[in-house]
Amino acid sequence: MSFDVNAIRKDFPLINDEVAYLDNAATTQKPECVIKAISDYYRTSNANPMRGLYKLSVAATDAYENARSKVATFINAADPSNIVFTRNATESINLVAETYAMANLGEGDSILISIAEHHSNLLPWQKVAAAKGCKLKYIDTDENGKITVDAFKAAMTPDIKFVSINQISNVLGTLNPVKEFSKIAHDNGAKILIDASQSVPHIKVDVADIDCDFLVFSGHKIYAPMGIGALYGKKELLEAMPPFLRGGEMIDYVTRDSATFTEVPHKFEAGTVNVEGAAGLTAALDYVDSIGIDEIAKREEYLTKIAFEKLSSVPHVKILGSSDYIDHHGILTFVIEGVHPHDIAYIMDSDDVCVRAGHHCAQPLMKHLGVMSTTRASISFYNTEDEIDRFVRSVAGIRSKMGYAE
Ligand SMILES: Cc1ncc(COP(=O)(O)O)c(C=O)c1O
Repeated sequence: MSFDVNAIRKDFPLINDEVAYLDNAATTQKPECVIKAISDYYRTSNANPMRGLYKLSVAATDAYENARSKVATFINAADPSNIVFTRNATESINLVAETYAMANLGEGDSILISIAEHHSNLLPWQKVAAAKGCKLKYIDTDENGKITVDAFKAAMTPDIKFVSINQISNVLGTLNPVKEFSKIAHDNGAKILIDASQSVPHIKVDVADIDCDFLVFSGHKIYAPMGIGALYGKKELLEAMPPFLRGGEMIDYVTRDSATFTEVPHKFEAGTVNVEGAAGLTAALDYVDSIGIDEIAKREEYLTKIAFEKLSSVPHVKILGSSDYIDHHGILTFVIEGVHPHDIAYIMDSDDVCVRAGHHCAQPLMKHLGVMSTTRASISFYNTEDEIDRFVRSVAGIRSKMGYAE
């Protein structure tokens, strides 16, 4: 399909020429087809899935399981049963930490994460380290915000039994070479989880090619509703892991004192599941497929280039991370000399530009970069050159609004 941004913008009720929405790394706007899929589900197929033998319940089960197949195909998993539905990436990481890591790691072992992880890919590992007596080790980014393959290799000491690392940083936009990281981890006898929250919406992610053990993402960052996320896991690992939550839908047989559990992935989906979220996720992934993930990546690279070049030319502005736009993948995190990021975001809101200010749930990275907080603009394919111009104009006017002479 050739890229017609005006037609695409009409698909999104909250995307219009009044407000430039540049907070897509936090969450994306939803196309009409996703909103309709949710409402259609309640109009045509709502019942408690899995339990019922009547047609409506079968329809709800089908909607849910279709989403699983869609996700598997989208990230090239071998089988739908490799996909566990969760509420979001955070829950997916907690699931692996509380089940795989708690069962397999112990004293003398280490977990390796990067300094550029979202708190969701840090706090669960702090808990495992404290509970199991293992060490949590960090690999730092270099002056360009990157982690090279050589640096990763050097960090992979024999004690490291688990690596959990992002594919694209939510602060710097840097793309990690996770396929190479995965091979190095495996060569050293470690398992690896990829936090693909910021990559799945923007580039082709192929779990077979990466050969990761686990991969996680949130639906809401890829145009799907909030409240649905996915965990990919290798089948033999998922099968060996104990359940995360316990209750209905995940058992085989229950006696007064014990229970046996059903097969993967249902073993990890206790209680009534999120069918409306699954239906919305299917619609969102179909929508992304209808544009093409490679087209999306190309369009976002083009917008990133324009935004990076224009923002770089504004006096007193410093963009964090790489000095090459190609490393930013739609994410521009910046500081303005002498202006607090919260003031920046408030002033930009008065110019009808939506950006995020704060530590972006990455406080250790902020410390590593020597800043308390920053402002972040993040791009989606539905953004336009005009919105980028409006964003840069707004940034350029901030210091004078704060009373600086220049
Ligand atoms: C890299 C990364 N990992 C994890 C998360 C957590 O996502 P969620 O809040 O949807 O669980 C985010 C959210 O911004 C993120 O950017």
